[in-house]
Amino acid sequence: MRLSAENVCPQQHFLLEVSASAMTTPPHKTPLRFYARPNDLCWCKSGLKYKRCHKESDNREWREERKRNELTRIKPGEISPRRMVPPHIAAPDYALNGRPGRGSGKKTLNPEELSRLRKACLAATQVLKLAGAAIQPGITTDELDAIAHEAIIALGGYPSTLNYRGFPKSICTSANEIICHGIPDGRPLQNGDILNIDVTVFLEGMHGDTNATFAVGTIDETSTHLIRLAHESLWKGIHAVKPGLPIRVIGQAIQNHAHAHGLGVVSDYCGHGIGDVFQNGLQIPHVDTAEATTLMVPGMTFTIEPMLTLGSPHAEHWNDGWTAVTEDLARTAQFEHTILVTETGAEVLTQEPNSNT
Ligand code: MF3
Ligand code: CO
Ligand code: CO
Repeated sequence: MRLSAENVCPQQHFLLEVSASAMTTPPHKTPLRFYARPNDLCWCKSGLKYKRCHKESDNREWREERKRNELTRIKPGEISPRRMVPPHIAAPDYALNGRPGRGSGKKTLNPEELSRLRKACLAATQVLKLAGAAIQPGITTDELDAIAHEAIIALGGYPSTLNYRGFPKSICTSANEIICHGIPDGRPLQNGDILNIDVTVFLEGMHGDTNATFAVGTIDETSTHLIRLAHESLWKGIHAVKPGLPIRVIGQAIQNHAHAHGLGVVSDYCGHGIGDVFQNGLQIPHVDTAEATTLMVPGMTFTIEPMLTLGSPHAEHWNDGWTAVTEDLARTAQFEHTILVTETGAEVLTQEPNSNT
């Protein structure tokens, strides 16, 4: 979910907390270069203010990167007419007018609610697997949307993204430099692309939300590294979940891992509380955020969905009002699970039994 305006910008904490792990990154590659403000000390440890040290060369570097990436950037394709949901499928409150209500406002679920959430999560897991298996060079993201749409309905669910705040399709498909919320369209996937598919299913009154990034055909080593680190970072976040601890520890774990490997973490989008409401107002930042003081308690359910970047972690948007891309148009990858806080840690709900992905 988009980080809300009431929150202080989490980027302000970065330079105060240069993690020791960031030292292992070659200086010209440190993600910290994207967070420095003019009067901060430079990330290179020269002792000079950033504006007197690397600011100009960093700016020049990312603008050049953007110029190179302009040549291969994804262009919006044609969006097909809206897909219909048959009347026997129970739809969420926003299905007709696009405006979600506030739901029960509860942040923890009782066993009966939890058993319904488990079903929604399992359905989303199965659909993500199916849509992911259909990926190959030449297929369009609109065709993937059709596959997911039909599969969700066959399982008795409603595709949660369809008309959520006006989103026009049944899944999000985000390729290459697209951070998240890409709209499925008529662009055929190309060998070497990477593609995130984000599936959310509304079933028995609950939303289950999961996503993964896939290779299209054969991808380069850098993209493989990015995808691997995005997946590992999600799991670092999951392993940080513990009742009694503040939400903040999740973003700390994710950020430390990404920065130690030279990658950025998007701070404009967070994980979210989830249940009878798709995004219930609880925010789960993926970077260290001092304001994330809410304590985790057993029965809480939320998503963790870090977006990692090869270059700049800052977003800009297409004029469709949805598609978020990196400002330097370098690649980005994401993984997402819906999790339950237990008495001892986390249980991943968007996983098939006996799976570890
Ligand atoms: N599933 C997405 C997420 O994890 C939310 C998509 S909202 C939409 O945050 F409106 F873009 F569909
Ligand atoms: Co989500
Ligand atoms: Co999602």
